Amino acid sequence: MQGGGGTLLGSISDFCRRTGMAESTFGRRAVNDGKFVARLRDGARVTPETLTRVNDFMAKHGAPGAGDAPPELMALIHAGAPQPAVAPAQKADPETNFRFFDNRQKYLLFVNTCSEKDVIARRVGLELGQIHPRPPAVRLFDAGMGDGTVLARVMREMHRRFPTVPFYIVGKEISLEDVRLSLRKMADRFFEHPATVLVVTNMYYSEAPWLQPRAVSAATSMVWHEAALTGTTSHDFSEQIATSEEWTKRLITPLEWPIPSFFSPVNSLVRTLADIREVFCEFQKRDIQIKDLERGLIDFPAIIGGKEVFLCWEQDEDDIEFWHDLDSGYAGRERL
Ligand SMILES: C[S@@+](CC[C@H](N)C(=O)[O-])C[C@H]1O[C@@H](n2cnc3c(N)ncnc32)[C@H](O)[C@@H]1O
Repeated sequence: MQGGGGTLLGSISDFCRRTGMAESTFGRRAVNDGKFVARLRDGARVTPETLTRVNDFMAKHGAPGAGDAPPELMALIHAGAPQPAVAPAQKADPETNFRFFDNRQKYLLFVNTCSEKDVIARRVGLELGQIHPRPPAVRLFDAGMGDGTVLARVMREMHRRFPTVPFYIVGKEISLEDVRLSLRKMADRFFEHPATVLVVTNMYYSEAPWLQPRAVSAATSMVWHEAALTGTTSHDFSEQIATSEEWTKRLITPLEWPIPSFFSPVNSLVRTLADIREVFCEFQKRDIQIKDLERGLIDFPAIIGGKEVFLCWEQDEDDIEFWHDLDSGYAGRERL
């Protein structure tokens, strides 16, 4: 079993503690670099060759290797020279000349039948071993969530490593279909790690990580919907997430999210509708009655001389100047 919390640094620290070896000595003897461990602590990456040398050194001294990188990831963490470009494929039989990026179907077929997403998620998981989150949260930005496979898997690994630290995650995605597919994967993530805030957005790349629109106009035309989940099972959560899917379907064009500048009229309309709805709700709460929308005729409940009445205001009147009985209506208006 691997010690040190499963990280390279942890394994080296365990090894040094057990053998009484100073970390600088370890670095010097294992990889000929006295500052190796300090560099790791500062977030430096290692090449597969260095990892192999560290493993060999520890194995030679009777300790299990650090072994933090599975063999299939070795190529990914190699910081070597770029690979030569692959020669363009000759035009050939479409059966054999398969180009996964030709259309969405081919793309989905490709990504769902190979281990690409798994390998990427595990590679990101390795990076988590190098971070030391500070309050208030671990912050993660996913620059293209797709169907959320990678994100969900990375969130699992984040939970394993930081089970009690809140997560603040922003996922950028342009395809509403992908947003829905991603959200469907989130119920058990939220359930296992309740201190999670996930924001899904299509703001510009420069704005999205901190959710800061560049211009006031973009800020005011933003459609912002919050869903705080309640319940005691991940099923409860998934039902509520399904409701927010309905919400997105109703408000936004089915193909893409509104792109702020292009769709701003749609956004302002939605915002106006939302404002109106809020005003109506407030009216309802206060028993204010809209008697005639066209004329702008509104009655407000009030008590005059211990008697329940309506104050009555019509559009274009400077102030509330009339009242009437509960039964008599506009015809019985009297000056205040
Ligand atoms: C390769 S996929 C990502 C796969 C994903 N990580 C997963 O786990 O499935 C790239 C994604 O980025 C999205 N995308 C491309 N350009 C974008 C942009 N400008 N803003 C937001 N999302 C974008 C695409 O819709 C696609 O879903």
